[in-house]
Amino acid sequence: MGTIKCIGILTSGGDAPGMNAAIRAVTRSAIYNGLQVKGIYRGYKGLLTGEIKEFKSQNVSNIIQLGGTILKTARCKEFTTPEGRQIAYENMKKEGIDALVIIGGDGSLTGARIFAQEFDVPCIGLPGTIDNDLFGTDTTIGYDTALNTILDAVDKIRDTATSHERLFFVEVMGRDAGFLALNGAIAAGAEAAIIPEISTEVDQLEELIKNGFRKSKNSSIVLVAESPITGGAMHYAERVKNEYPGYDVRVTILGHLQRGGSPTAHDRILASRLGAAAIDAIMEGQRNVMIGIDHDEIVYVPFTKAIKNDKPIKKELINVLRELSI
Ligand code: F6P
Repeated sequence: MGTIKCIGILTSGGDAPGMNAAIRAVTRSAIYNGLQVKGIYRGYKGLLTGEIKEFKSQNVSNIIQLGGTILKTARCKEFTTPEGRQIAYENMKKEGIDALVIIGGDGSLTGARIFAQEFDVPCIGLPGTIDNDLFGTDTTIGYDTALNTILDAVDKIRDTATSHERLFFVEVMGRDAGFLALNGAIAAGAEAAIIPEISTEVDQLEELIKNGFRKSKNSSIVLVAESPITGGAMHYAERVKNEYPGYDVRVTILGHLQRGGSPTAHDRILASRLGAAAIDAIMEGQRNVMIGIDHDEIVYVPFTKAIKNDKPIKKELINVLRELSI
C-alpha cells in the first residue's frame, strides 16, 4: 500500500458509551491532517455490503454526548471466513479506502489482525468495550460509564435491601473479565464480588456475609460477574438459598442497561485522545496496533498482545474490597 489518503472507520461488536466520541475524534483528526474519511456502517458487515459513506466534520457534530454508535454495530459471521474477507477487501479498494480504524473489543481486533495479515491493509484498533478486558490499556472506552451505571443501580438496590434486610446478588456484565464486578463492588461499598478470575465457594461467601450480618449489617450486596465460570447471580442465589435458608435472597441482573447512556467525562476524554492518536499512528506509518493509554501515556500495542494476553486483576483491589467490607 502506498500513501494513505483515505481512511475507513467502523465500530464492531458490543457497543460501548464513548464510541461516538471516538468516531468524532478519528474523523476530525483525520480531516485536520488532510485525510478523507469514510464511515462504514454495521461493523465489518458494512464492508461486505458496501454500506459506506463519506464523513465530513459536520457528520460527527453533536455526538460526543451520545451513547451507542451512530455507525451502528454488528458481530459479522461472514467476516470470519476467507471468502467474506475477500469481498470486504474488494469493496474497500473500490471505495478508495487505504487504511481502517476499528473501534471494538477483542473479537473485533482479532478480525482486524487476520484481515491486516491477509491483505496487507494497515489497521489501527481502538479499545471499545465495557468489559475493560484488553491488555495494554489502563481502561477501555465505555468501561468507566458502565461502572458508573452499575454504581447508580447498586446504590438504589441498597435502599430496598436495607429496608427489607435482604441479601442481594447483582449480576453485572464483563464476559470473562471481573473488572466491572470488582471495581463496581468497591465503588458501591458491596460486601463481596464474585469474579471469574478467582474461585469463590459458597461457604466462603457465607462466612463473609454472616460476619457482616452478625456484626453491624442488616443487608448485604454481592456483585457477580456474568460468566460460565462463576455461573452467574442465579446460580449463587440458589445455592445460598438451599444451603442457608435463613437468608432472604433476591437477584437483580443489570443486563444491557450497562451498555447504554451518555459517556462520562473520563470516557469522552479517553475516546478523544485515542481517536486523535489513531490518526497520529497512521501518519507515522504504524499498522496493526491497538492504541491504548498506559499510565496516562499513549501507547501502541500490537494486536496479538492486546488480544492474547490476559489483563490481570490487581490483587490489591481484592484486598481493598475484603478489608472494607467488614
Ligand atoms: O462485550 C460486551 C458485552 O456487553 C459483554 O459484557 C456481554 O457478555 C456481551 O457483550 C453481551 O452481548 P450481546 O449484546 O450480544 O448480548
